[in-house]
Amino acid sequence: MENKELINLAIDAKNNSSYTPYSKFKVGAALEMEDGSVYTGGNIEIASYSPTNCAERTAIFKAVSEGKREIKKIAITGDAHDTFPCGVCRQVIREFGKNPTIIIANSVDDFKEYTLEDLLPHSFGPEDLDRGTKNV
Ligand code: THU
Repeated sequence: MENKELINLAIDAKNNSSYTPYSKFKVGAALEMEDGSVYTGGNIEIASYSPTNCAERTAIFKAVSEGKREIKKIAITGDAHDTFPCGVCRQVIREFGKNPTIIIANSVDDFKEYTLEDLLPHSFGPEDLDRGTKNV
């Protein structure tokens, strides 16, 4: 899928899928999986705050719960100029996908592409568990 198309879906998710009564700060994410399927999500806030779910994780958990495991591209757009994924979401992206492209978008004409290595260098992932010295 073209970046612009995916960004449009993220913008749509920001505007129509987020639930942000507390911060009023809206974020949208759109994923293209390796099999070509597409999932979107908005951030969801909860009155006790800590259960709040970021847009990226909403979209990723929708995909994973449908059996999809490999993110090809993720477009993210938020109410701040250059809204980057939080640390938790970077780790969740790390779990699902070999080398996903992460698109940080302000509009369909203003975006930059990053690798996971750009955003989460020296990361810990599933294969590191197999390297543990206690693993026999
Ligand atoms: N938020 C996201 O949805 N994604 C991010 O990567 C950054 C933060 C949301 C969480 C919360 O609903 C609001 O933005 C303010 O932190």
